[in-house]
Amino acid sequence: MRALVVYESMFGNTEEIARAIGEGLGTDEILPVDHAPRDLAGYDLLVVGAPTHVHGLSRPSTRKAAADQGSGSTRTGEPGVREWLGGFTVLPPALDTAVFDTRIGKPRWLTGSAARSAQKILSGLGHAPAAPAESFLVEGDGTETKLVAGETERAREWAAGLRLRRRASRA
Ligand SMILES: Cc1cc2nc3c(=O)[nH]c(=O)nc-3n(C[C@H](O)[C@H](O)[C@H](O)COP(=O)(O)O)c2cc1C
Repeated sequence: MRALVVYESMFGNTEEIARAIGEGLGTDEILPVDHAPRDLAGYDLLVVGAPTHVHGLSRPSTRKAAADQGSGSTRTGEPGVREWLGGFTVLPPALDTAVFDTRIGKPRWLTGSAARSAQKILSGLGHAPAAPAESFLVEGDGTETKLVAGETERAREWAAGLRLRRRASRA
């Protein structure tokens, strides 16, 4: 199975989860969204992740706000996942997809979820997810957040589950 992980990350939390997901999937194709391909032919599974900004996927204005709040440099640049996914009119029909985000560890109705927003874009392309959208939780405020203990391991296990699910669906 050929799997690609695409991530957006301002300060590293989502990147860390993306790397754990790559490990769980057994792939080293883990690409920042600003270097992600537009041609997904040949991939069996696409996993996309982003930080939650203002209850959903980031926008250029929230990314700029994040960069201004931090040291100015961010892990990924333009475009974000919203624009990258929004640039597709069709995805390869045999491609499985799954989405994740990082967000504050409070009830989802309070925090929103970038993964839910990404899922809506994929649904708009007629693409049913291989698994429900997943969130990995952080604690802290603003640019000073860090992953809650155990979330990296949970991401690895979630990805291993995706791999098994893909194998079972093709058996
Ligand atoms: C501009 C901005 C807006 C944010 N809005 C939300 C939000 O609405 N809900 C939430 O749960 N977290 C929010 N966060 C927190 C981030 O989702 C969280 O810190 C995330 O793990 C950052 O990922 P990164 O380190 O990969 O950039 C926001 C952070 C920033 C910088």
